Amino acid sequence: MYALLRTILFQFAPEAVHLWTMRQLDRAYTITPIRFLLKGVYQKKSEHLHRTLWGIDFPNPVGLAAGFDKDAKHIDALACLGFGFIEIGTLTPKAQDGNPKPRLFRLPADKALINRMGFNNGGVDAAVLRLQKRKERIIIGGNIGKNKITPNEEAYKDYEYNVKALHAVVDYFVVNVSSPNTPGLRELQEKEPLMALLHKVQAVNKSMPHPKPVLLKIAPDLTDTQLDDIIDIVAATQIDGIVATNTTIDRSQLQTAKERVEAIGAGGLSGKPVTARATEVIRYIHQKTKGSIPMIAVGGIFTAEDALEKLHAGASLVQVYTGFIYEGPGIVKNICNALLQQNKN
Ligand code: FNR
Repeated sequence: MYALLRTILFQFAPEAVHLWTMRQLDRAYTITPIRFLLKGVYQKKSEHLHRTLWGIDFPNPVGLAAGFDKDAKHIDALACLGFGFIEIGTLTPKAQDGNPKPRLFRLPADKALINRMGFNNGGVDAAVLRLQKRKERIIIGGNIGKNKITPNEEAYKDYEYNVKALHAVVDYFVVNVSSPNTPGLRELQEKEPLMALLHKVQAVNKSMPHPKPVLLKIAPDLTDTQLDDIIDIVAATQIDGIVATNTTIDRSQLQTAKERVEAIGAGGLSGKPVTARATEVIRYIHQKTKGSIPMIAVGGIFTAEDALEKLHAGASLVQVYTGFIYEGPGIVKNICNALLQQNKN
């Protein structure tokens, strides 16, 4: 069923399809019987799916990754599709357009996407207003970044602003310094600037009435030495966990013709080509820290097996993005069913 819909949708420009399908889903949500139908078809409820992390009770461990609903415009409709949590963002203090279009590309031969969106978003304050008005109860992660025009030396001010703005409306924060599409951003992953940034974020977070868990989202392109630094930084700043991983700049695993890949140009690659590397990063950190850092695994999860592999490698929760585009909304229930099946065995 979804395979047919996908064939049709893939005939059109990816970003236009995203907007159109979200508009249809929002419309469907407003029609009560369809809303109930969506929930009936896609949601899986079982106490065996619950996971408690950072004092938060996740109804299931399958979340929607950052970037899909950057502005929290579709939370109610997306909540009907069975996700255990939704990560909004990346949000920045000021609204910004992002990079010129086209900036999102499909690589069907690789079950992948390349994007150079560039943190297009309507600004954190607009998202806060939307979150205050939402109807569905679902756990929300707030993924935060800096504006393109903000120099790295002042980036901490953007992150601090985001934390203050979002504090009352999200359940956890994700500090994003791993997007390849904001020039210079990934330099903030280096030891000194990252340590300083996370200390500042923690200071603001801890000054709030109910501090929220703070996670760091990392790139799959880090070396083992850089991962070791990340482990040290997590300990030193006492942040609560890691989201691994973001998109990659590596193009070495692709089946798609070289000319096509070159014509697409710069951007972050997601989907199947990052599956193995994202799992490796999770496993490396898990083994090095003896499982002491809670992790959300994201990167190339298409099947229940992919999700189970990430969980076995040491993740506590998983997220999907590209797999959701290729496999459709049924992906969440598939993973939940596999987890329940595993419980029985
Ligand atoms: C993303 N991703 C992303 N991540 C993030 O932290 N902030 C963001 O704004 C975005 N934006 C974004 C846009 C698009 C079009 C894509 C495809 C991806 C990265 C995403 O959350 C995830 O980490 C990677 O895509 C890897 O997971 P998948 O897609 O292989 O499941």
